[in-house]
Amino acid sequence: MTPHSPYGTDEFDSRQFRTAMGQFCTGVTVITSLDADDNPVGFACQSFAALSLDPPLVLFCAQRTSRTWPVIEQRGTFCVNILSNRQQDVSATFGAPGSDKFKSISWDASPAGLPVLRNNLTWVECSVESVADGGDHWIVVGRALTLGDVLQDKPLLFYRGGYLSTEHPRVTPAQTELDNFLTWNGGDTWL
Ligand SMILES: Cc1cc2nc3c(=O)[nH]c(=O)nc-3n(C[C@H](O)[C@H](O)[C@H](O)COP(=O)(O)O)c2cc1C
Repeated sequence: MTPHSPYGTDEFDSRQFRTAMGQFCTGVTVITSLDADDNPVGFACQSFAALSLDPPLVLFCAQRTSRTWPVIEQRGTFCVNILSNRQQDVSATFGAPGSDKFKSISWDASPAGLPVLRNNLTWVECSVESVADGGDHWIVVGRALTLGDVLQDKPLLFYRGGYLSTEHPRVTPAQTELDNFLTWNGGDTWL
């Protein structure tokens, strides 16, 4: 049977592209590092993903206009803080420009001294492995060096340009054929 062609358009503007891509729900991270004077820096980032199990790699995309990215590139290491649904204000703080984003933020130092924000779901400290051109963004691949403990809480979600919180207290297991999938761990991770 010939499949029906779904309705669509190859003529779209940035707003339509944004709307379409906004249907993809993600978590929210804050990616932190230290500048040359060891001052903490960071920005909110939804374009984070686990990339490879062996070797352990992650990726994120940074706008070319980001003030934090050149600092991370210079330092060569960064820390990904995965936010919980209690940290919407943290996302808002790090998602806006500002020189003093850490003013009201409590944090501890990772083994490399990078900011680990309190009450995140978990964190991963990484070294910059490679950087690739991604249009008006940079695609940054990082190698995981240290993993933080996991907090039993719910994630902060970003969807259609706004924040969303999971109402269901349990994760519904996906099918078992995902055994080799990178973020599949065979069970419920937060209850
Ligand atoms: C929920 C959320 C997700 C975001 N995701 C990204 C992202 O994936 N990449 C990016 O470069 N900026 C992202 N931003 C925007 C930056 O956080 C924002 O431009 C910030 O002001 C950059 O700070 P900086 O210039 O100090 O680096 C996001 C913002 C929010 C609120």
